[in-house]
Amino acid sequence: MPRPRRSCLAVPGSSQKMIDKARTLPADQVFLDLEDACAPLAKPDARKTIVAALNEGGWGERTRVVRVNDWTTEWTYRDVVEVVEGAGANLDCLMLPKVQTAQQVQALDLLLTQIEKTMGYEVGRIGIEAQIENARGLVEVDAIATASPRVETIIFGPADFMASINMKSLVVGEQPPGYDVGDAYHYILMRILMAARANDVQAIDGPYLQIRDVDGFRRVAGRAAALGYDGKWVLHPGQIEAANEVFSPGQADYDHAENILDAYEFYTSDKGGKRGAVMLGDEMIDEASRKMALVIAGKGRAAGM
Ligand code: GLV
Ligand code: MG
Repeated sequence: MPRPRRSCLAVPGSSQKMIDKARTLPADQVFLDLEDACAPLAKPDARKTIVAALNEGGWGERTRVVRVNDWTTEWTYRDVVEVVEGAGANLDCLMLPKVQTAQQVQALDLLLTQIEKTMGYEVGRIGIEAQIENARGLVEVDAIATASPRVETIIFGPADFMASINMKSLVVGEQPPGYDVGDAYHYILMRILMAARANDVQAIDGPYLQIRDVDGFRRVAGRAAALGYDGKWVLHPGQIEAANEVFSPGQADYDHAENILDAYEFYTSDKGGKRGAVMLGDEMIDEASRKMALVIAGKGRAAGM
């Protein structure tokens, strides 16, 4: 069963205050950031803060993730070694930003395996979340999704991505001014989703930076959720409830999905006449309807509906 990731809360690894607050918030996942939310000079201390925070616990059911720096920097190996040696037993995944090739994922996999062996941890338990943040990464996304069995999610990083393709916009997640023929993000979102679904990993949408505009967040999150995404980053407590709601089915859809499953199970059984396609009210349902209903019911059950 994949981990729930409707809301993935970004927390600067250098902020003890925000880390403490994160323990009290209803996000499915918390990721402590050593990358862009952490100034270069603050990174060495932030590694220590993160190790202590993971080992102190108090994270409940939340998925515990640390975002390390990308492989083109000089910081990555120390991020990984310090965090995983120090707190690997209390860590679920590492997030690798700006992934451009499968080899970058494999390099992280190899390093993790060495640390797990040295420390006596279970080998392969710590997962990888791969962020796609530039054109090269998107072109390679299929290979990245299959680069290691540790890969659990592919994440769209819209801010870096917009910069990397020279998109004429400064507002992350909103349409670039002058583009009035559809959704400028559709191809990217769909491309990532196909790579994720084809390889049984989750697809996560990145941040929405207008943190006070919760309606805007809902609108942008709603697009990703409608396509089939599993969750989205949240940068502020005010976005968490919205994400949990947007990435869970509505009550009516959930109830309807459960009704479809019940009806289909009954009518295809001995008791119901072993039929293939059956009627539920005015709606014809068949094996494909059952699969669609299972997706909605599965999300609802995971959300405790
Ligand atoms: C996230 O890292 C982004 O660049 O959007
Ligand atoms: Mg980024």
